[in-house]
Order: sequence, then C-alpha cells, then structure tokens
Amino acid sequence: VRVLVVGLGYVGLSLAVESAKAGLETFGFDIDIKKLNLLKTGKSPVETVSNSDLKYCIQKEQLILVEEINDSEKFDVICLCLPTPLDNKRIPDLSFLIDGVKIISRLNLNQTLIINESTSYPGTTEEVILPIIEESGLVVGRDFYLAFSPERVDPGNSQFNLNNTPKVISGSDDKSIILAKEYYSKFVREIIVSSGIKEAEMSKLLENTYRHVNIALVNELAQFCNKLGVDVWEVIRLASTKPFGFHSFYPGPGVGGHCIPIDPNYLSYRVRSQLGYPFKLVELAEEINQSMPFYVVERITQLLTSLDKSVKNSSILVLGVSYKADIGDLRESPAITIIDNLISRGAYIHFYDPKILKIDIEDLVISRVPIEHVNDLEVDLIVILQSFTDIDEVLAILSKKGTPIFDTKSVNNKEYNIYKL
Ligand SMILES: NC(=O)c1ccc[n+]([C@@H]2O[C@H](COP(=O)([O-])OP(=O)(O)OC[C@H]3O[C@@H](n4cnc5c(N)ncnc54)[C@H](O)[C@@H]3O)[C@@H](O)[C@H]2O)c1
Repeated sequence: VRVLVVGLGYVGLSLAVESAKAGLETFGFDIDIKKLNLLKTGKSPVETVSNSDLKYCIQKEQLILVEEINDSEKFDVICLCLPTPLDNKRIPDLSFLIDGVKIISRLNLNQTLIINESTSYPGTTEEVILPIIEESGLVVGRDFYLAFSPERVDPGNSQFNLNNTPKVISGSDDKSIILAKEYYSKFVREIIVSSGIKEAEMSKLLENTYRHVNIALVNELAQFCNKLGVDVWEVIRLASTKPFGFHSFYPGPGVGGHCIPIDPNYLSYRVRSQLGYPFKLVELAEEINQSMPFYVVERITQLLTSLDKSVKNSSILVLGVSYKADIGDLRESPAITIIDNLISRGAYIHFYDPKILKIDIEDLVISRVPIEHVNDLEVDLIVILQSFTDIDEVLAILSKKGTPIFDTKSVNNKEYNIYKL
C-alpha cells in the first residue's frame, strides 16, 4: 500500500509517521521546504512525534519526504492534512485546502482513496473537494474513493494518541468506507463509522465548540466572580465534586491553538451563510473568549495601579506563553495579544517558558530569559499566563523576593503574594 500525506504539520506528520510505523510505504509532501529539510534531519517540530520515531521511519525508508510529486505517481491512499485557518476578517480560508486538492487532482487517481482530515464546515469534502477532483472526468465511487476523518490529536496529552483515540470515519459510498476502515485499522484501535460525511465533519466542530462554549461560560463567570468577591476557582472545585452531570472547565487568559479559537467560526460561518442567521451561542462564546486577553490587561493595569505603579515603564515577567501547558506552540496564543498590548502601553516584558525560545511581535523579538537568570530580574509584577512542568520550582525561587504575582491559571495556591484571575 502506497500512502501520500499532503501537509506535514501537527496532524499530517503524526499520521505519516504512524502510517510508516504500520509498515505502509508512506510519502510525506509539504510545500514548506525549510520544514522538509528539518524533518529530513530527523528533527520533529511537533510534540506528538518523537525524533526517534521520525528517524527510524526515514532510515527504514518507510517514510519518504518529498517536495514534489510527479503527475504520473500513483498512490492507494492520499490524506489531506492542510491548514484551514481564518482570514483577517475571521472568515474561513479554504485556499490551502483547495490548492492541495488541485495538486493531487493532477495525479493518477485511478482507484485511489482520498481522505480529508482537515477540519472545516459540513459540506467541505463533498461540495469543495469533490468537484475539483471530478473536473478531470473521474467519478467518485467508481474511479476513485472519498472519505473524511476528523483528527483528534491533543498535543501534550500523554494518555491519548492516534493509536488509542477512537477514530471517526465517513465515506461517500460503501467502498470508500471499507477502504478508509482498512487503512486506519492498521494503526488505530477503534474505528467509528459515521452515517454520512457531513455528520462526521459536524462532529469535529461540535467537539471543539463544546469546549469553546464551556470555556466562555467559566471565563465570563470569572469576571463576575471577581467583581462579586467570589473565588471562581473554589467554585469550580466544589462543583466538580458532583459525580455526575458536571464537567470542569477552567477560566484563563483566552483560548489558543489551531482548534478552539478557529473551528467554531467555521460552524457559525456556515450557519450564517447558508441559513442567514447567527449561531448565537457560538458567536457569543467567540466574543467572550476573544475579550479575555484584554480583560487580563485591564486586571494587570488595575493591579499595578493599586500598587502605586503604572503599566508605562513597569517591568513584567511573564511565565508561560504557549497556548497549552508544556507544548512549544504559540499559534493563536492569548499571551501574544497580552504582551503586545502591554508593550504598546509602555511596559518592559521578559518571559520564561520551557518550550518557547522567542516571541515575535511585529518588529520586536523577545528572547526567553534563561532559567538561571530569572531570579536576577528586578520586576514589578509576575504574570502567569500558562502553566508548565516545574512552574512550582520557578515560583518557589521567585516568591522569596515577594514580587506580586497575577495568576490567570490558578497554578499555585501557596501563600505567595498572589492575585488570581
Ligand atoms: N493541530 C491540531 O491539534 C489539530 C487537531 C485536529 C485537527 N486539526 C486540523 O487539521 C488540519 C491541519 O492542521 P495542522 O495543525 O496540522 O496544520 P499545520 O499548519 O501544522 O500544518 C499544515 C502543513 O500543510 C503545509 N501546506 C500548506 N499548503 C500546502 C499544500 N498546498 N501542499 C502541501 N502542503 C501544504 C504547511 O506547510 C504545513 O506544514 C487543519 O484543518 C486543522 O484545523 C488540527
């Protein structure tokens, strides 16, 4: 079986390596030559793929990294793992997916199974991808096969990975489903078949929207609790002792990553553009979660004022900047908005995060303070925007100076000089 994975990012690289480890001859194609060159040296830029696994697959020639694909090439399975971001008006941008489909539609697709793994609104696989491929005169279900399977990778999760997370699959006809099941069964333990492609596409959006809406709920609650003098963290701790009917979500400085801040917009866009009215709950959640970085800046400003200081000319050490604990990913991280905003108000920012070396903010590059120098800094405020392993040790050292700490994640309950979100 020859497999081609198009797009070697968080999703595509994990899939390509798992395919290769399962013994399938896997080709990985990406338009980013710098990334390909890095991968060829056996260095994995994503947490879900280890350097040793990547090196092993390359050395065994089970994974072949390519920057071009000949039109005459033939693959049994082609997986599309392409970015589906929002444009600058926060509207779905399918251009990467469409470009990738155009590239593969030039190949010999006779009897090939094409699987879309990119997240998008329901209808994308059959209404956007399928017509481009059928332009060549091929007919789905006869000449080639089409499937959609949402990716559920959770970077940094040590318990669940591609192998042991149940995989939803869907196809445009019975044969597409059988082929997709056969492919994923090589490296995924449990396969769940959807009755339709749109249902599978929507299920991915529901999973992420569920998180988005619940995070918005606790984020808004946190703002009210602060005004009412109620400890929101204690409220959630108490509610979570109920053994049924309650699932804990926690407030924070905003939502980040490629899924939560993006995917629900695909859903609300589809509802608005197809039905002509808003998906109220999703749009409200978007508004609340997007406002959190600005709320955090306001709280920092108020805190500094209460300490007879101002943001202008104050020196702030930020701990944790990635969008999720212990991962080297800054995509959509609320820390960027917060730091950018504080700098534009005249603050001097230092940061420490074990997984992030530098932050680019427009023309400015801020390098991480080496851990051995963190304690040498004289700062007015420490702001925790993300947790990470060893944050307790870092705080134990820093707290000796008595510097006030604004903790947006409630990572530490010790009797330090802590102010919580
Ligand atoms: N990152 C996650 O945790 C996650 C989880 C579930 C689903 N998803 C979804 O999976 C899809 C891919 O996400 P990702 O996080 O892997 O994105 P990514 O940005 O990490 O990787 C995408 C890769 O595609 C490459 N690319 C872009 N255009 C190309 C083209 N025309 N041909 C070949 N390669 C091309 C890019 O260079 C990049 O390396 C998105 O739809 C995303 O929403 C992501």
